[in-house]
This record gives sequence, C-alpha cells and structure tokens, in this order.
Amino acid sequence: MEEIKNFVKQALRGRRDITVGLGSGSAARMVVEELGVQARMGGITITGIPSSTQIAIAASSAGFIMLSPSELNRLDVVVDGADQFTEDGMIIKGGGGALARERVLWEASNNVHVFIKKERMVKDLSFPLPVEFLPFSMYILKKLIERKGMHATLRTNEKGYPLVSENGNFLFDVSYKDARQAYYDLRGLPGVLDVGLFIYGATVHLL
Ligand code: A5P
Repeated sequence: MEEIKNFVKQALRGRRDITVGLGSGSAARMVVEELGVQARMGGITITGIPSSTQIAIAASSAGFIMLSPSELNRLDVVVDGADQFTEDGMIIKGGGGALARERVLWEASNNVHVFIKKERMVKDLSFPLPVEFLPFSMYILKKLIERKGMHATLRTNEKGYPLVSENGNFLFDVSYKDARQAYYDLRGLPGVLDVGLFIYGATVHLL
C-alpha cells in the first residue's frame, strides 16, 4: 500500500488535473481508490479512460470524470495490474479478460505503471496466455493452436458457460513452452483479437 501511496503522491504533485488510463483488476482498483483520495484532498480533477466496467465503477465511485477512448486526446499516465512478469520486461495480462483494451491504453502512453504482487515475478513465464478471439473462429482456432503444439482451454464462468469479454468475444487460456514465440504464433491466427503478453518498458511497482 505504501508503494501505491507514494506513486500517487508523485503522480499528482503540482497538478490541477490529470488524465489516467485505467487497467483492470484488484491492483488497478487499489491505485484508483488512492488516486481518488489524494485528488480530493488536493482539489485535483481526475479524468479516467477505463478498460472495463469493473474499473469504470471503481473510478466513478472514487470521483473520477469518465471518458471513453474515442474522446481520448492525451493520457498523462496508465495504471494497471498484471498476472505474471519477468525481470527482463515480459508481462502477462488478461486474467480478467480486459487485455485488448488495456493494450490500447498502454499504446496511448509512454508512462505506464504496473502494480503487481512480488510473488508473481518469475524467471520463466508459466501463467497461461490469455487469448481473446471471435466466437465464430472458436473450433478452427483451437485446432490451429493445437497444431502449433500448444493447448487451449476455453475460459468459462462458474456454471461452465463461455465467458464473454466486454468486446463480445471469447477467451482461451493457452499453455506454451516459449511465451514470446507463442505470442507471435497466436497473434497471426484467424479470429484472434489479442494475446496477453506485453513486452514494454512499463514501470513495475512491487506490492
Ligand atoms: C485484466 O484483464 C488483467 O490484465 C489484470 O490487470 C490482471 O489480471 C491482474 O489482476 P489483479 O490485479 O486482480 O490480480
């Protein structure tokens, strides 16, 4: 929590307003709540561009003004969480299914901050790669993935129904040997919208 407080203090220093890209998940929510608290104390206006309904709800309750990405003309900072990462900058995201929108936000800023539990730092990535894809392509895509030597599991809810992303798509969780190779192999397959490996110069904050 100290890490989040210090980051927020730093991010808001000297500002009257700030526009923040909002990743999804519990870590992003903690950052949003702290941004709300410190902005209120400092009389700072925060505008948020959310990557999911989950974080939009958290940000509105924290007092953010909400915009959609189509109204976006600048992002001062992006805050996000992650599922697993390596010291050399490979990050897996998409455990909550918001990977495609999160990537758009990451691309829109050169000031991305990821908040993640230190236990999630690994030498070799092992968290299954989230793949968001068109439901139309499901059977063919699964075969193509398996032909490449990987295994795809359809993400479902607790009753076994396919989980539908906020873009109306389905998700596979894919096992792999080499995450970077898997990313390139999967990105090129028909029906794939995005694959949750992020290789960027984000600043990682350990929680
Ligand atoms: C959302 O799709 C993800 O990319 C999240 O950022 C990731 O799953 C981390 O979530 P938690 O902070 O809830 O662990």
